[in-house]
Amino acid sequence: MGQRLEWGRRYLMVRPDHFRIDHVINPYMSTQDQPDPVLTLKQWESLGQAIVDAGGEVEVLAQRSDSPDMVYAMNLGLAAADGRAMLSHMRFEPRRKESLTAAEWFAEHGFALGRTGGEGVGPHFESGDAFVFGDSLVVGYGPRTEAEALKHLATDWNIRVRGLRIAHEGMYHLDLPFCPVDSTHAMIYPPAFDAASQAELSGIVPDPIVLTDAEAFAFSANSIVVGDTIIMPACSDRLRAILTGLGLTLVVLDLSEFHKGGGSARCLTNPLDFPLADITVPGGELIAPA
Ligand code: ARG
Repeated sequence: MGQRLEWGRRYLMVRPDHFRIDHVINPYMSTQDQPDPVLTLKQWESLGQAIVDAGGEVEVLAQRSDSPDMVYAMNLGLAAADGRAMLSHMRFEPRRKESLTAAEWFAEHGFALGRTGGEGVGPHFESGDAFVFGDSLVVGYGPRTEAEALKHLATDWNIRVRGLRIAHEGMYHLDLPFCPVDSTHAMIYPPAFDAASQAELSGIVPDPIVLTDAEAFAFSANSIVVGDTIIMPACSDRLRAILTGLGLTLVVLDLSEFHKGGGSARCLTNPLDFPLADITVPGGELIAPA
């Protein structure tokens, strides 16, 4: 039986005051389908409230007017409970200014900042691709994060990193096909990965909850666990039975406006408390299928 996650109590969120679909950088986005500002704010507030109701804490950062995707705060940087943070180096130019504001925020909040690159130099890293799970930091690479960034994470932080190659354009960040649920359970969508990484993934997750196509594309893996509560944008009856069977309380929220930009509950929330102690190895270690 798994233990509750050690992290996921403290989050950074970005208030969606300038959320629009201005550019298309994933298959869910269309400039013809704009979010409704009133509903957007209502849905975002319901997510923040659900986190607080579950016993979590939320820090709020204002959105830059020149960065419509900044609401997807999960990508601002990978933040650890011990005060280290690795800033994202965004793949696509329209998101790069977000890092200027994120860097300021992390510094002001006492984080020691690292980076894999910036200004077009060094590998891209987007923190929506990284989760502490089991004995390692699991990092998805391919569509956004580049393989080279995994070496930085391993050696700069002296941690064990396991890479998974994402091979599905609709699952462009790891937080779309992978969601840690407790210490042994994770929701996974294997078709998001190449064959070698699917095999690697089965070694990483002792108790996989394998999502159907419909569950994965309803963004069910883009959920967050806060204490005993799981906050989800969609949940099938089948998943509901599995998750409540693990003792979790389910909160299902309508986050439809954010799905227009290709993200949901997880993408909107950046955990600030990943524990690194158990994944620390001197010199770092990178394990990635060839
Ligand atoms: N439109 C954003 C992008 O393509 C969505 C980001 C979703 N965030 C996430 N953590 N998966 O970058």
